[in-house]
Amino acid sequence: MNRFVLDGLAVPFEDGDTLMAAAVRAGRYVPHLCWHPRLGQSGACRLCTVRVDGRLAAACTTRAAPGQVVENRTAELDGKRLMLLQMLFVEGNHFCPSCEKSGDCLLQATAYEMGMTAPRFEEFYPNRPVDTSHPRTWLDLNRCILCKLCVRASHEVDGKDVFAIGGHGIGTHLLVDSPTGRLGDSAFDDTDFAATVCPVGAILPKRRGFAVPIGDRRFDRAPVSAMAARSEAGPEAAQEAPDGPR
Ligand code: SF4
Ligand code: FES
Repeated sequence: MNRFVLDGLAVPFEDGDTLMAAAVRAGRYVPHLCWHPRLGQSGACRLCTVRVDGRLAAACTTRAAPGQVVENRTAELDGKRLMLLQMLFVEGNHFCPSCEKSGDCLLQATAYEMGMTAPRFEEFYPNRPVDTSHPRTWLDLNRCILCKLCVRASHEVDGKDVFAIGGHGIGTHLLVDSPTGRLGDSAFDDTDFAATVCPVGAILPKRRGFAVPIGDRRFDRAPVSAMAARSEAGPEAAQEAPDGPR
């Protein structure tokens, strides 16, 4: 069987696997924000950057090959991940204590995993809109981290292309394909796969607040690295459980 070595332990893989896919199937945690087991490759967030035979590479877009030596949870790489997360936190408006997604948020959970307990950089406090035009779903762009998961889910699974990314640099933002640019005038439906994939609290169902109490949520019960070890689909599997929080 084909194998590579991840932080000193062998990981089996199948032809065509990325390092991420094989690692997750083996119950190993590689930090990530924009990877999802049901979606194709993207490489948007760079949280999954590992060293493959000494060279930096994104685990979610790098093909596994026999004999590779992959470094993942090293102090150097986790330090870079921490800085990326600290930048993401100040680039948007993230107020965890009042967010419905707290405890179920991959950004928050990954930041805890990397040891982040306080901001490092000065907040930008960007002026971003909240779109409440859809009858059953609200879109809060203050929390969007531009991971493109909704863009890819809408394209690859829903076949709708409701979402896209537009703008440049600090002005980069999520776009909705509709005559008005508002979600309520688009082809989006709350049963779409795109309605379930947001790793943060940017796409949330209306009229369902705190159905699962704070303290009982996915990442309240276990750190994100431990969640990954419990499911072949990684921490994302719990997100899609019918009775679990989105
Ligand atoms: Fe990612 Fe959510 Fe922003 Fe879509 S709305 S790009 S899923 S953070
Ligand atoms: Fe690999 Fe985002 S998970 S770049």
